[in-house]
This record gives sequence, structure tokens and C-alpha cells, in this order.
Amino acid sequence: MGTLDGRIAIITGAGRGLGREHALLFAAEGAKVVVNDLGGDIGGEGADASPAQETVQEIKDMGGEAVVNGDDVSDWEGAQRLVNQAIETFGGLDILVNNAGILRDRVLVNMTDAEWDSVIKVHMRGHFCPTRHAANYWRAEAKEGRTREARIVNTASESGLFGNPGQANYAAAKLGICAFSSVVSKELVKYGVKSNTIAPRARTRLTLQTPGIGELLKQEVPEDKFDEWDPANVSPLVAYLSTVDCQFNGEVFFVFSDQIKRVQQPTILEDKALSGGGERFTVQQIIDSAGKLA
Ligand SMILES: NC(=O)c1ccc[n+]([C@@H]2O[C@H](COP(=O)([O-])OP(=O)(O)OC[C@H]3O[C@@H](n4cnc5c(N)ncnc54)[C@H](O)[C@@H]3O)[C@@H](O)[C@H]2O)c1
Repeated sequence: MGTLDGRIAIITGAGRGLGREHALLFAAEGAKVVVNDLGGDIGGEGADASPAQETVQEIKDMGGEAVVNGDDVSDWEGAQRLVNQAIETFGGLDILVNNAGILRDRVLVNMTDAEWDSVIKVHMRGHFCPTRHAANYWRAEAKEGRTREARIVNTASESGLFGNPGQANYAAAKLGICAFSSVVSKELVKYGVKSNTIAPRARTRLTLQTPGIGELLKQEVPEDKFDEWDPANVSPLVAYLSTVDCQFNGEVFFVFSDQIKRVQQPTILEDKALSGGGERFTVQQIIDSAGKLA
């Protein structure tokens, strides 16, 4: 018995990196998987069906069920085809893992509007479009009395949570994904859907090109040592969040190596507060007491 036996999943960007590991684990746990990947380069240029085909072949070789989808997840019609493919091929949809992503890093003073737009598009529309089409399917199922224990797992980043210089476009998109998931979790829970978000850390082509850590990640890990940066370390949490047993909704989890940590939701600090005593502040009053907010 696998923890995802008989469940039908879409995993976006599953030709490489984290998505590929999610797909292999999902299949090993008994899920039927639609392996989506456009197959472009790190910056999202070009297309190549072979990474997704290779993931599907690996799943079939181990006796699992999977099909390739080569659509761009940030394309409205492409995302509809992706959701339809799961329903037509496997007879339904239970899980959507929004994972596809690109990077176009540049410090703000040099960032072009095209670099901004493309990263926002792939991450934010790439989460919105498949989720929107899947949500309509799950609502229709619920209205027909066939509520599915559906799960959405979104992919954010520490870059969005904490702000990483050189990634204004990416960080904005990634924190936006947390906000998106929060709203989705509240709107869709009545249709049986739960939506959570991960902020992973792993060795993939995205991190291998990151200044500073890229060189560290290229170092070989001795066979007898636990490989902390293995992207497969992230997948068990993604699988758990996709199970019927998942008890969370609207949460964000940091996941790396042998560590899973829930991220605190934005919180107003009641002990770092000023009160105007029933009147609007003057600017000078705020200057005089700003230390209380520090
Ligand atoms: N690797 C990390 O440490 C790390 C950290 C934080 C967040 N992430 C996020 O994890 C996710 C996976 O990244 P990864 O590190 O495995 O990178 P990766 O480049 O190995 O994999 C991303 C995959 O997404 C695909 N893709 C890109 N745009 C697409 C589109 N429009 N439609 C369909 N497929 C598309 C690519 O072809 C690629 O195969 C991304 O959202 C990334 O931002 C990764």
C-alpha cells in the first residue's frame, strides 16, 4: 500500500530538479502522474519535450503510471489542456503540485521590464492558471455530490520570505504565491480542497548557478554521507501534503535536508505598537516615539 494509492496528480515542471523527484516519489507511492514540463532553459527560453519524457519513462520502468504534458503552465489554454489531460487519461484529478519555475536574476537598477514580466508570469500565472482550472473541476465534482479530497501544493522560496538581493522579480512572485495559497485555502476548503506551500532548498540547476553556493553544491558528496542537498529530500513533505491524511491548510513549510519547519504566518506585534489615544498621529509624534516600534 502506498500513501498516494490511486490518487491522480499533476506535477508541473517535473522534467528536472525538484519536480522530477516529486513525480518519482508520487508514482512509487501509488499515484498516477501527469508529468508536465515545457523543457526550456533556466530563464524559460525554448522548449524540449525530452526531460518530461525521461521522467515518464523512469516511472513506467518501475511499474508506475504516468503521461507527458508539454504545456506552458502560465498559458491559460495550456493550463486547461493540462487539467483536462489528467481527467481524460486517468478519470479525475486529486492533486496539483505547482512547481514549475525560472530565474532571471539581476539587481534592481539593471533589471529590465522583460526580466520582471517573464518571472512574474511563469511563477504567478503558472500557479494561478492550473489552480483556476483545477478548482472549477473540483467545484463541479462537489456540486455533483462527489467531493474529492483534493490537495494543492505550491512552491515558494526563502527568497520571497526573507528577500534575496538580485531577485526582486522572483522574490515578489514567491511571496505572492504564499498570499495566493492563503486565499485559495480559504475559498476552496468548502469543496474539499486544501492548499499549502513549500519553501524548499536543494541542489538543482537553479541553485547550481547561484553565486556563492553553486561552487559548494558542485562538490562531490561521499557515498556513505547523507546528501543534504539532494532534491529528493524535499519530496516526502510534498507527498504528505497531497495525502488524504494531510491536516494542514493555508500553511507554508520550509524544507531542506532532514528538516521540515512550519513558517509563522504574518503577525502583528502587539508589543511593538503605538496608540494615538483616539486621535490621528502627527508626524512629529511618530518621530518622537518610533523607538517603541523597533
Ligand atoms: N532548488 C532550490 O533550492 C529552490 C529553492 C526555492 C524554490 N525553488 C523552486 O522550486 C521549483 C522547482 O525548481 P528547481 O530548482 O527544481 O529548478 P529546475 O530548473 O530544475 O526545474 C524547473 C522546471 O520547470 C520547468 N518550467 C519552467 N517554466 C515552465 C513553464 N512555463 N511551464 C512548464 N514547465 C516549466 C523547467 O523546464 C524545469 O524543468 C521552482 O518553482 C523554484 O523556484 C527551488
